[in-house]
Amino acid sequence: MDFMELMASRHSVRDFLPDPIPDEVLNEILEAGRLAPSSQNRQPWRYVVLKDPEQIKKMSLNSGLLGLSNLFIRKAPCLIAACADSSKGLRVNAQDYYLVDVAISVQQMVLAAWNRGVGSCWMAAYNEKAVKKYLDLPKSWRVVAMLPFGYPAEKKTVYGKALSFFPGSKNRLPLEKIVRYFGEH
Ligand SMILES: Cc1cc2nc3c(=O)[nH]c(=O)nc-3n(C[C@H](O)[C@H](O)[C@H](O)COP(=O)(O)O)c2cc1C
Repeated sequence: MDFMELMASRHSVRDFLPDPIPDEVLNEILEAGRLAPSSQNRQPWRYVVLKDPEQIKKMSLNSGLLGLSNLFIRKAPCLIAACADSSKGLRVNAQDYYLVDVAISVQQMVLAAWNRGVGSCWMAAYNEKAVKKYLDLPKSWRVVAMLPFGYPAEKKTVYGKALSFFPGSKNRLPLEKIVRYFGEH
């Protein structure tokens, strides 16, 4: 697939087939994350991968009250908690760049997955404390996002449709609204 086409066709997938992702494909996805750039090349990303359906179901029920809106993850064959070791991060301009670093790395994984027909969905709605406790993560780690990965189910559930309809997922602001050419009127 052409790269622009890949980006244009990618969308959040919330309904998955139960088929597991072959290790070779999963490794390619993780490799795409590993290759990402990071501030001072500190590579603060750490990934916790869940592949066992029972573990994933338990995780979905243990991700805190906020996570209940994301119960759809329980049916994904793979779940990745994208974490940052904050002790490795760079702080400049009062910004914690480990968040940027992990976001770049995760989006590379999302695109690499889509290139192999694997859908995913960024998720911020979970309780970080609950997730950290459940996954027994070190103190210095932050859970930046959680993402289910899997082959898209043809039929979308009402729930999946609603979660995509609510934020107007297909809409993007036009370039005129987001780009300002300095010095031009
Ligand atoms: C940082 C981030 C957090 C998100 N959190 C959630 C979430 O908790 N639950 C959910 O269903 N979708 C979540 N989304 C998905 C967005 O709703 C979706 O990306 C947006 O509506 C655009 O739709 P698209 O991904 O289909 O293009 C999140 C996306 C991002 C980038």
